[in-house]
This record gives sequence, C-alpha cells and structure tokens, in this order.
Amino acid sequence: MNINHEVKKRKTFAIISHPDAGKTTLTEKLLLFGNLIRSAGTVKGKKSGKFATSDWMEIEKQRGISVTSSVMNFPYKDYQVNILDTPGHEDFSEDTYRTLTAVDSVVMIIDATKGIEAQTLKLFKVCRMRGIPIFTFINKLDREGREPLELLEEIEQVLNISTYPMNWPVGMGKRFLGIFDRYNKQFIQYNGNEEETYIPYADLDNSEHEDLVKNATYQETEDELTLVDEAGDNFSLENVLKGEQTPVFFGSALAPFGVQSFFDTFISMAPNPTPRKTTEGLVSPDNPDFSGFVFKIQANMNPAHRDRIAFLRVCSGKFERGMSVKLARTDKTIKLSQSQQFVASSRGTVEEAYAGDIIGIYDPNAYRIGDTLIDGKDNFEYDELPQFPPELFKKVSAKNVMKGKQFKKGLEQLVQEGAIQLFKGHRTESYIIGAVGELQYEVFEYRMKNEYNVEVSLESVGERIPRWLNTDQVDESLFDDRNLLVKDREGQFLVLFKNDFALRWFVDKHPDIELIDLFEVN
Ligand code: G4P
Repeated sequence: MNINHEVKKRKTFAIISHPDAGKTTLTEKLLLFGNLIRSAGTVKGKKSGKFATSDWMEIEKQRGISVTSSVMNFPYKDYQVNILDTPGHEDFSEDTYRTLTAVDSVVMIIDATKGIEAQTLKLFKVCRMRGIPIFTFINKLDREGREPLELLEEIEQVLNISTYPMNWPVGMGKRFLGIFDRYNKQFIQYNGNEEETYIPYADLDNSEHEDLVKNATYQETEDELTLVDEAGDNFSLENVLKGEQTPVFFGSALAPFGVQSFFDTFISMAPNPTPRKTTEGLVSPDNPDFSGFVFKIQANMNPAHRDRIAFLRVCSGKFERGMSVKLARTDKTIKLSQSQQFVASSRGTVEEAYAGDIIGIYDPNAYRIGDTLIDGKDNFEYDELPQFPPELFKKVSAKNVMKGKQFKKGLEQLVQEGAIQLFKGHRTESYIIGAVGELQYEVFEYRMKNEYNVEVSLESVGERIPRWLNTDQVDESLFDDRNLLVKDREGQFLVLFKNDFALRWFVDKHPDIELIDLFEVN
C-alpha cells in the first residue's frame, strides 16, 4: 500500500468552542455525513443520557461526562476523517490543550449571539502558538444574533487574525433567508425545517427567484456584500495554512443549515498531515518508518483491569498491530499488541494506521506524555509538548502523615504523566498543584486513593494568574499572599497573582521585573 496515498486522505482536526456554542450539535451533523450515527442526538448524553456505552473510569460515569478527549473517525468521500473532541466546562483540563498538539487543523465555533467567549480564546491561543490552521463556523444564524461585520471585526481584533468570510448571511433569526456562498458562487436558501436549496449566482436573475431577490433584507445584504468584496482581505489559502487567516462560515448546526457546504469546503482545504519537528530535523508523514508520539494517557479506562491507554498520534510510516517499536526516551523495545481505534461510542481494534490517525495503545506503565515511539534505525524524539499555564491552584497534603512515602510516589508519577502540575512553596515545603480545570483535581484525588492508597486533602489557593520570573535572584520581601512566590519542578520561580488587578499593580510598581506568560514561552 502506498503510504503517501493514505496520508493524502487523512484530515485530522479538533473542534474548539466555548460550552453551549454548538460543538456537540455540529459534531453530530458531521458524524451523520460519515454515516457513523443514524440519528442526531446520540453523541453525548449530558442531556439525553444516551452515551452510556463507555466503561471508562468511575468518575466519568458518576458525572456522565467524558473525562478526556475522545476520537471519532470515519470515511467521507475520498477522505479519512479524524475528529478529536476537546472537552469543555468543568471537564476542561490540560488534555484539552494537549489534544491540539495532535491535530492538523481546528474548527472554531462561535455563537453568533455571543461572539468570542473565554474558553474559545484560550484554545485559540494554543492554536496560534502552534501555527495550526483555524476554520471558523459562526453558529446559530437561525436566531437573532450580532451583525456579521461586527463579529468579523471582533475576531480580527480580539484574536489578531485576518478573516475571510466564505459566505455571507442574509438576515438572521426570523428574517434569515440564507447565505451567499461566496466561495462556490451560489446562494443557499434557508427553508426552515425543509432542506436548503442551492441557487447558482447566474440563476438568481430567473423569475422564479423574484420574491427572494426583491426582498428588502436581501437587497440590503447585497449592498453590504459589495462592501465586503471591495474592502475585505483577499482569500489566501497560503495564509490559512500558516494560521494567519481564518476562513469564516456562517450557518446553523441545529437547522442544519450551511453545514454541508461548510464541511465540503473545509475538508477540501484542511491540511493533510505535514512534516513534524523532531530532535533530528523534520520527519515526513510518508517516511516509510513508523513513528508517533503520545499526547494523552488515560488511566483506568476499564476499572476491572486497571488498564492504562496511551493515545498515540501517528506521524509517519505505517502502524501494524503487533509490531515492535522503540521507546525513544529509554531505547527499549515494546510490542504493540493491544491497540484500539476510537469510534464515537465504541472502541474497536485497529489493524493498521497512518500519519494523522490516532490510536490507543495499551500502556504497561511505560509511557509518559510526549513520548516518541519509532520503528526504524534512526533515533529521534518529537518536539516536547508545551506546558500550559494552570489557572487553579490548591495546596495538597496526605491526610495521614504516615503515608508520606506513597504520597510522594503518587504525586511524582501523576506529575510525570502530566495529569497535574506541581509547585512548591518557596519557604515552606508545602506542595501546590496547578490545573487548568477543576476536573483534574477530582481525577487526581481519585487516582491517589485508588492507585496509591493515599487520601489527600486539598486546600484551595483560588484562581491565580501565574507569571514566571526570568531570574533566580528575587527579593522575597516583594511577595505576599496576593502575589505568592513559588517554584516549579525545575526550580524556576513564578508568582501566582490573585487577580488581574494584583498583576497590574505589581507591573506598575516593578517595571524592572520581567514577568513571563507561559503562552509566550512555549
Ligand atoms: P456544546 O457542545 O458546544 O456545549 O453545545 P451543544 O451542541 O450542546 O449546543 C448547546 C445548545 O445550543 C443546545 O440547546 C443546542 O440545541 C443549541 N444549538 C446548537 N446549535 C444551534 C443552532 O444552530 N441554532 C440554535 N437556535 N440553537 C443551537 P439546549 O437547549 O441547551 O440543549 P438541547 O436540549 O436542545 O440539547
């Protein structure tokens, strides 16, 4: 089998959004295109309770959520589509960020009634940092939302990225008539619950469309569109692929409206797997030697077996079940006998996989997040996964002081695995753990108890804004509880600011002290 041919078929992406923007609804519609589900409303059971087939860890069952991002794959036209889910809300964790290191592009959903929201912004920053191409879907056009021009302006200003509207909506909410599909030069008519209709631009003059064309909202929008055509940025696929321009699609995931044309255009433009950086230079996805990296480890997916699954992004060559590979970090050989591919709600065995695919491999407690697996003579490691700035901090200790040894062991292993980040009080020997989402603490507590037999107490330090210091010479008298001085695992000083105000106050008072935001470091 020609590896290059397989790589060219792969489209691996994540959908990012703030909770409630419509990620589940859109994902469902895409899965329908892939014939992966038969009716909408079966993806996740937060509300419908239908997603009950998972036998993942207990905590997941209790809360009815997916603890870590899952992967869905399906063939669509000539492509092999891999969608990586990025959990939101309380289930937001470092895994959500790390998932973005395993994709080749991202679909960002924005709620037209709300514009850019906090979580979208955070995830967007990671995409920007890594130069991941971003495609925007502005959702809920069937509702009265904000003006399209205003939404585009917000994207440009807040996210600092150029936009190109692939289509342009005519009205919104009750007045919603459809969209001008600028890219495919057709008008897509909105028919409420009925299927959308496609009218080529050239046919709009026909008398049968008179009612539409004479509609006041339509005419107003035509003028607006002329303005956009003249004053807006030109479309540049090159800039899109560099992550500098985002093609914007308006539509409604629920209707659904504009979803088919969005997906067809997106999938034709979204990049295939590209060469990735390693310690030995770039490795091409069609390199015949298999390689990949672990971006997530899920423990206890099956409570009966206490197994751990490492999620591997294949980056080159061909994966075959049962093959032996080298773990670059230790130079040890491991046989990959149990492997799984993730399909919406079930896990099936995977026999072969290519660059862009995500597979789950059984982890005999050997892997760490960021590990590289290789088959071939060369030895190299993929770029280290970036560390992400935690926002929540808690002091942690063992409830029973006699369990100090297990406590340290558990802490160390979970930190190494990337489940949490560890900091130490500067003067005190107290441990502070940092996370990006509350769920990480629940998982941490659960695993300390179940895997290391240690009950922990967690004392909140609250939400904090961490800033690293560029020096190891610090004047301790400058710090107190509002700007707490701690050290990270490498012994680097950082300050945990109580809020934006405390941060700004400190910057004003001490302009000579350089404060580094982790997003800028990575
Ligand atoms: P999420 O995964 O991003 O959190 O969002 P989700 O798809 O669950 O959608 C959040 C809410 O927004 C849902 O309503 C959903 O039906 C609605 N929604 C999604 N897309 C559209 C759209 O294009 N137009 C309109 N009008 N609504 C949309 P809900 O009432 O919270 O839940 P449900 O009971 O309808 O499932």
